[in-house]
Amino acid sequence: MRVELDKISKSFGPVQANRGISLTFEAGRIYGLLGENGAGKSTLMKILSGYQTPDSGRILLDAVPQQFRSPLDALAAGIGMLYQDPLDVPPFTVLENYLLGQPGGLAIPRRTAADQLRQLGQHYGFDVHPHERIEDLSLGERQQLELLRLLSGGAQLLILDEPTTGISAEQKSVLFNSLRDLARKERKTLILVSHKLEEVQDLCDQAIVLRQGDYVGGAKLPCPSRKLVNLMFAELPRRAPRPRPVAGTPQLELRDLVVRTPRLALQPVDLSLHAGEVLGLAGLEGNGQELLLRACAGLLPLAGGELRLAGQRQPRLDYLAARKLGLHYLAAGRLEEGLVSGMTLAEHMALVSQNGLFVDRAASRAQTRRQIKQYQIVARPGSRVEELSGGNQQRVLFGLLPDDAQLILAEHPTRGLDLRSSDWIWQQLDLRRREGAAILFLSADLDELLERSDRIAVFSGGRMSRLLDARQTSLNELGHLIGGGA
Ligand SMILES: Nc1ncnc2c1ncn2[C@@H]1O[C@H](COP(=O)(O)OP(=O)(O)OP(=O)(O)O)[C@@H](O)[C@H]1O
Ligand SMILES: [Mg+2]
Repeated sequence: MRVELDKISKSFGPVQANRGISLTFEAGRIYGLLGENGAGKSTLMKILSGYQTPDSGRILLDAVPQQFRSPLDALAAGIGMLYQDPLDVPPFTVLENYLLGQPGGLAIPRRTAADQLRQLGQHYGFDVHPHERIEDLSLGERQQLELLRLLSGGAQLLILDEPTTGISAEQKSVLFNSLRDLARKERKTLILVSHKLEEVQDLCDQAIVLRQGDYVGGAKLPCPSRKLVNLMFAELPRRAPRPRPVAGTPQLELRDLVVRTPRLALQPVDLSLHAGEVLGLAGLEGNGQELLLRACAGLLPLAGGELRLAGQRQPRLDYLAARKLGLHYLAAGRLEEGLVSGMTLAEHMALVSQNGLFVDRAASRAQTRRQIKQYQIVARPGSRVEELSGGNQQRVLFGLLPDDAQLILAEHPTRGLDLRSSDWIWQQLDLRRREGAAILFLSADLDELLERSDRIAVFSGGRMSRLLDARQTSLNELGHLIGGGA
């Protein structure tokens, strides 16, 4: 199938997300769609997959113009999309979710369908268990299931919007191998939306770059990454140098801290984090680093040991009490935990600054306008947070960070962000640390861990390594430790 986009335009109020974009996609090829946060990538792909309608422009499949009214329309025509945020239904089982997208739906006999699903999974190299519940699956497994649903629905063109954000390295290599097979053996067309240039270079045949709603160029891959960066950013983001650590007073002290969940027990942790210091937590997903961060934020109970915040012992820490002591937690799930979908920027501001029962709407709108300016957020006070691009959502989260935060716990602070926004986030964090805040963060990006931390702790099977000096550690060493090496 040959897919053409012909002069696609789409605006949201004053924002022109796509301006007359024309592109052609050939069968059997893998395309990488690149561009900074807010460039219009997701919008263009949502239009191609029937999730949104363009203001003007046409979609042609094998030269025949199409009118998609819904994602189901598009899938019937052979176009399927894996969204940036999963759209499955958590309380259901894997099988039920799969059936929801099939013609005939829940009326198909369960046993037949379960066998079908297992076989389909095997064919594409995914390990699926039809009777597991969606809420027990990892993000990577949910993606695999969604891909199977799209493939069994007849997708010829598959769009993956930032599929590797939040999945493990192993799941990524499984995913990429199946994508290569889909293109080479089954002649499917694939479009990968990503911020990770190495990924795009590794997987894709051709890059397509958008900037502020315009198509600005393409390149056959592999090509020098410099070329792609130049296309993506009108001006190159400049890396701010890492500040030297200043040893301040201890903000967080852990002695033999133990945390347990049904899946994993965290072995006793000893650690002190001082004002002005940045500690990075490394490890494959599910090895205990998330537990440590959440326990320190008062979001998981302690099963033993001692935790002190700013010198005060906290036998039973809860998040609200911790906030009063200057702790602030930035969740990785921006839309699930960090922000409230459906609420506007001004309402968020009112929520965090509210004293007592009454909300001063005029004041919160004015405050939001200042915030928008200071944090360079592309939005209006009345925009709902789910409408913003990933980078802008992260800026909003930072806008809600109180001035007096002494201990900042950040889960994947730059996940899904482009170079410029990532750098901006770290400028904000470095500013806070210069003012004396201590920062504990979690990341799956080894370069980020090495460049941004003073010290790094590596987690493997619930055990924390000794602390490494980030300036003395190489990428190889860190990778080796994360893989479970001694
Ligand atoms: N439903 C919507 N309502 C209002 N504005 C929107 C909506 N969807 C997108 N926008 C705006 O359109 C622009 C393009 O957004 P889009 O999500 O397509 O960017 P993106 O390239 O996918 O960015 P990211 O890399 O952050 O995911 C952004 O300024 C965004 O805030
Ligand atoms: Mg997007």
